[in-house]
Amino acid sequence: MIYGKRIRLRADERADLPLFVRWLNDPEIRQGLALFLPFSQAEEEGWYERMLQTPREQHPLLIEVRRDDQWIPVGNCGFHDIDWRNRCAEVGIVIGEKAYWNQGYGTETMQLLLRHGFLTLNLNRVFLRVFETNPRAIRSYEKAGFIHEGRLRQAEFRDGQYLDILLMSVLRSEWEDASQDA
Ligand SMILES: CC(C)(COP(=O)(O)OP(=O)(O)OC[C@H]1O[C@@H](n2cnc3c(N)ncnc32)[C@H](O)[C@@H]1OP(=O)(O)O)[C@@H](O)C(=O)NCCC(=O)NCCS
Repeated sequence: MIYGKRIRLRADERADLPLFVRWLNDPEIRQGLALFLPFSQAEEEGWYERMLQTPREQHPLLIEVRRDDQWIPVGNCGFHDIDWRNRCAEVGIVIGEKAYWNQGYGTETMQLLLRHGFLTLNLNRVFLRVFETNPRAIRSYEKAGFIHEGRLRQAEFRDGQYLDILLMSVLRSEWEDASQDA
């Protein structure tokens, strides 16, 4: 388990898959994600079995929020495409329980993932891609310390039009400087 102030990150379990099917079929949640076809439970089970065969550092982590003495699953996050030679990885996040949006949980999750990435996995650069049309996500990443580094023009086709994808990243040196200031 990776513990934060209000949340913890734990390994995804097979029993969590129905949650993911619900979250990933929600049109409002999909607005921010590179998904364009409906997901079935069977497809999600196939994804889970394939995921178990990948390196453990890349396994997704379930985001749980503490409510009294209970832990409520609200989303999923994690690193993918870890490049060990360049010590760089992409990070992704979904908070699937919309009632938990805009309460700082996305920011706290990214802060925990950055700590895990830099101090446990020994990464040097963590980056992400976000649609230009997702101001909540962009703001949350800025709050977690991500710097805007570029724009992939018209890189996503969605609802009949092209969107730009923004690239954002944090270097370990920047994260260390910010951690000292905090
Ligand atoms: C994107 C996501 C991870 C952000 O998590 P979150 O917990 O909702 O975000 P936070 O509460 O940490 O921060 C959101 C910030 O955006 C702001 N915000 C929300 N809607 C906004 C809007 N329309 N325009 C500008 N800012 C907005 C909030 O006010 C808050 O900033 P503040 O603290 O300065 O007031 C979450 O909403 C989510 O999973 N969405 C669906 C899937 C998705 O889009 N994933 C990201 C793919 S790149």
